[in-house]
Amino acid sequence: MIFTPSKLPGTGTSIFSVMSKLAEEHQAINLSQGFPDYDCDPKLFELVNQAMKNGFNQYAPMAGLPVLRELIADKVNTLYGASYHPDTEVTVTAGGTQAIFTALASTIGPGDEVIVFEPAYDCYAPTIRMFGGLVKPYIMTPPNYAIDWDMVKKLFSARTKMIIINSPHNPTGSVLQEKDIQALIKLTQNTDILILSDEVYEHVIYDGREHLSISRYPQLRERAFIVASFGKLLHTTGWKTGYCIAPEFLMKEFRKIHQFNVFSVNTPMQVAIANYLKDSSTYLGLSAFFQQKRDAFRSMLSATRFDLLPCSGSYFQCITYKKIGHESDIALATRLIKDFRVAAIPVSAFYSRNTDCHVLRFCFAKKQETLEKAVESLTKL
Ligand SMILES: Cc1ncc(COP(=O)(O)O)c(C=O)c1O
Repeated sequence: MIFTPSKLPGTGTSIFSVMSKLAEEHQAINLSQGFPDYDCDPKLFELVNQAMKNGFNQYAPMAGLPVLRELIADKVNTLYGASYHPDTEVTVTAGGTQAIFTALASTIGPGDEVIVFEPAYDCYAPTIRMFGGLVKPYIMTPPNYAIDWDMVKKLFSARTKMIIINSPHNPTGSVLQEKDIQALIKLTQNTDILILSDEVYEHVIYDGREHLSISRYPQLRERAFIVASFGKLLHTTGWKTGYCIAPEFLMKEFRKIHQFNVFSVNTPMQVAIANYLKDSSTYLGLSAFFQQKRDAFRSMLSATRFDLLPCSGSYFQCITYKKIGHESDIALATRLIKDFRVAAIPVSAFYSRNTDCHVLRFCFAKKQETLEKAVESLTKL
């Protein structure tokens, strides 16, 4: 019998896979995982086909197609007034997750501490641990998931290597405000602390709010990896494409890992995305598109016994359920699938200690009829 110790002994199958499998078994409407149930703009299919027919089928350059890197640099400059050099400070990745993995792999070593705001997207903690790092969680709680930066400061030590932020935030839909950014500037100035800013929902932000990209702030961008996802931007999560921007000294290390991890990202998608995004209305209209969905979903949910938490960005709506009972969020999520054929994610899964604040997360990046069918069933609860 061969024995090999696990690199992630405490890690099992993710809650997303568990809930999706259960949802499939019970033919439930899947509002658990964060992906659309509708197609992207057909123009994108044509552009991918065209790219393939035009012979863009071999390895792309390691850092990404120059035309796409230039487009990314221009977009960031136009939107946030930040200058990133396409040759040395922009890398196209196989989605946001790979960018996060690579940023952590290239900087985190044994004993390094990383401050993570929980509930947190599920890939941060295992990746940190994989490289010997220690997760220092800051626990955010409903209804507003606000951050008390004096408490964050208490998590700092001589071993603090990085802070991970995510705005708009998955799973809570909260967004960082100017006062949060100023606190972050104050906390990190005159230190070597790095920032990993997960901005995959940058174009999904509501009620006229502006996305406060870390790239807007010179004191922060000089120490930051910023991660974006074309999957979220184009309704094509299965294409697994995204990018990372960072100052040259960080990007140099990032690419050392990237070149042996994925080497390069698939070529025809890059060609198509570069052509598609020339028209900025393709992404500037995204917030309005999702705000209409958010408003419709929230209005429908008001007929249920759930209490709605605020949703200022991302395509997730969280709810609490004290009028329904005191069961655990996992128990309720399981009951919803089995008895009401609707799948949601229990938010305790996003805390390293499975903190249960009795909150469920629904994804509303779905067709109107999907949302209507789901809510019709949920009103019976
Ligand atoms: C907060 C957050 N970061 C990163 C990702 C991963 O993005 P991608 O699908 O491009 O890997 C997701 C996907 O759901 C996410 O919600």
